[in-house]
Amino acid sequence: AHTPKILGFGHYAPSRTLTNADLEKMVDTSDDWITTRTGIKERHVAAPDEACSDLALPAARQALEQAGLTPDSLTHIFVATFTPDAYVPSAACVLQHKLGASQAMAMDLAAACSGFLYSLETARAFLAIHPEAKILVVGSEVITSRTNFTDRSTCVLFGDAAGAAVLGNQDNAIAALDDVLLGADGSLGDLLVVRGGGSGAPVALGESVDESFFVQMQGSEVFRHAVRSMASITNQVLARAGLSAKDIDLFIPHQANIRIIEALAKKLAFPIDKVYVNVNRFGNSSAASVPLALSEALQEGYIPEDATVLLASFGGGFTWGAALLKF
Ligand code: ACO
Repeated sequence: AHTPKILGFGHYAPSRTLTNADLEKMVDTSDDWITTRTGIKERHVAAPDEACSDLALPAARQALEQAGLTPDSLTHIFVATFTPDAYVPSAACVLQHKLGASQAMAMDLAAACSGFLYSLETARAFLAIHPEAKILVVGSEVITSRTNFTDRSTCVLFGDAAGAAVLGNQDNAIAALDDVLLGADGSLGDLLVVRGGGSGAPVALGESVDESFFVQMQGSEVFRHAVRSMASITNQVLARAGLSAKDIDLFIPHQANIRIIEALAKKLAFPIDKVYVNVNRFGNSSAASVPLALSEALQEGYIPEDATVLLASFGGGFTWGAALLKF
């Protein structure tokens, strides 16, 4: 059967960090509340002149370097994000230009926190159509550009980052992308929204921005659905491969909240020491979260040779997904 490969990984986070102590000075919160409710200690924040494509660029270059490819060998670029540089041009087109990947088509993909898994599945499909393709997929977010820093229930949760992978069909590769499964439920879309400025919530010239421009969510509802949907799709992808939790060497779920990760691990009977966690250092970086964790885990030596790695994600839409990688 046709199994696309991952040829390189990369990640990047802006240098500036925002600690819980910093947030204590901005809203009525405490390090203790944030730590016990979310597991987050600090998150990275883009500089005013750093947009989605600027975070994507170093992550993409790292992934290309590991793949041993030059930008002009890329045929496709997908950027998963809900915080692109602009509506038009897409972050993927801006990135294409900054990379000098002049032979690649480029498009953004909108699936909120599940965007990276959605782009992996898209890459899989494109590689079936174009066997010679070399595809760059990036999850990149400047969520702080859509964070309401007067709303303590959301502003403590998010951070900016990017993660990237290069895919192609070849034998000598870092990992095989064995399977991807995706799901969505638009009937629950209202529970996690960024509406302002969309065509459903248009802004007239001269009107100022209101809370609707920023992430708004029903946290405890999102929490419940995140655990349920990720557990279900993870079990489906394992069953399809004839595997069980004990066959997985490392589980990398979306990094939104340590309590979601723990509840998910418990539900799936995964020992927590087989679960990769960096939400404490990055917060929730949406589409960047899974590729950031994956690339970091690989660089830091947490992925042994011949490892089977399981990915899972959940985000606004709602959207969710799971994937299996064989190293
Ligand atoms: N500091 C102090 N108190 C706070 C803060 C804060 N930063 N934020 C909320 N509170 C208060 C609330 O006002 C509330 O007070 P009240 O009872 O007097 O009204 C109290 O804490 C409890 O609020 P809850 O919302 O019930 O707290 P909960 O335990 O559910 O935790 C949280 C909130 C952390 C947001 C949790 O629901 C969560 O993580 N949900 C999932 C959110 C998430 O990860 N979404 C992303 C997934 S999809 C994506 O990545 C886009």
